[in-house]
Amino acid sequence: MYFDITPKLRKEDFFGMDYQIDLFKSYLLDESVRMIVIKGLRRVGKTSLLHIGLQESKVNYIYIDVRDAPFYERKEFFVSLINKIKEKNNNIWTKTLEKIVGVSFSYNTFSLDLFLAKEENISSFFSGLNEELKKKKETFIFAFDEVQLLKQIKFDYFLASVFDNYHQLKLVITGSEIGLINIFLGKENYDAPLFGRANLEITIGKAKEETVSKFLEEGFTQIKKEIKFVEIRDVLENFDGIIGWATYYGWYRSKNFPHQKAIEKVKEEGKIIVRREWENFLASKKAKVDYLKIIRFLARGKNNWALLKQNFSKERKKISDSQLSFCLTELIAYGFVEKLNEQYFLVDPMLSMV
Ligand SMILES: Nc1ncnc2c1ncn2[C@@H]1O[C@H](COP(=O)(O)OP(=O)(O)OP(=O)(O)O)[C@@H](O)[C@H]1O
Ligand SMILES: [Mg+2]
Repeated sequence: MYFDITPKLRKEDFFGMDYQIDLFKSYLLDESVRMIVIKGLRRVGKTSLLHIGLQESKVNYIYIDVRDAPFYERKEFFVSLINKIKEKNNNIWTKTLEKIVGVSFSYNTFSLDLFLAKEENISSFFSGLNEELKKKKETFIFAFDEVQLLKQIKFDYFLASVFDNYHQLKLVITGSEIGLINIFLGKENYDAPLFGRANLEITIGKAKEETVSKFLEEGFTQIKKEIKFVEIRDVLENFDGIIGWATYYGWYRSKNFPHQKAIEKVKEEGKIIVRREWENFLASKKAKVDYLKIIRFLARGKNNWALLKQNFSKERKKISDSQLSFCLTELIAYGFVEKLNEQYFLVDPMLSMV
């Protein structure tokens, strides 16, 4: 059903994404492709594409939603990753450790925590895992959802070594903060660990108006209801082409909420989610007032450079060109603002409501 609000796991529930699924599958099955990057704004279907593509191509994979993992602590993160490998394939996991720790290896007396306290053991483990997989002619896909969060534990160095040395392991990474993903991948930065490692990208954007309309119409047919033209217009006006919000709206309608109430509920809940994302962003920034003002001006339609500058001076707040440019670049990098034809827009209308 299109209006399920969790990330989709089945192709038939994932509307209009056949092309992207097939493309992703072809990359997964192509031995020469070592790294795949799925990029897209928030709530456009990245996680759904990841799950469906991985399942459909019947590859062995480990999926990690970085947001649910201890991404701030290197050793803890590796413990959780290696435990996932154990869950997936206990046999290969045991064989790998037997090789490194010795034949007497027994999980009862073995502490993964202690083992990983030595940095060199991490690489021994993955090199051993690679050897085991090679013997069995198997490949593992490591899929990291919202990988940019792992920059702080220098996970990009680890991924570069996987890319270079462990050919039985293949990488899939996704992220909503596109600028941060680019930094993670070392685009245009010769010194970054992942610089120059070839990858193939799949980008998911906001859906077009016709696509959202069709999604809603077909979703309503599935729930045996009808949606009026004006209601579709209203959804588009409120939530633009962000299919995640249209899904939430449809879900409320499937639970018999009337149109207006459903719109309000999505706004109410959406605002909580977006506020949290926005506050997380602001927390790490010094120039909080500048960022807040920019968002407020953009929400009022002051979309170009000159208008932004003008509004800063109207409010008697000085901002230099370099500072304004820096703030806008950051807002774009974190996926809050997009730039089209020299104009700046809030990506998600929910942010202007917040
Ligand atoms: N094409 C689609 N067809 C049906 N439902 C979709 C589609 N795209 C997204 N959704 C729904 O929208 C919501 C967001 O999807 P998903 O979690 O896959 O996106 P995401 O880009 O990973 O989001 P986030 O940035 O929050 O991690 C989910 O409820 C999902 O079911
Ligand atoms: Mg996601």
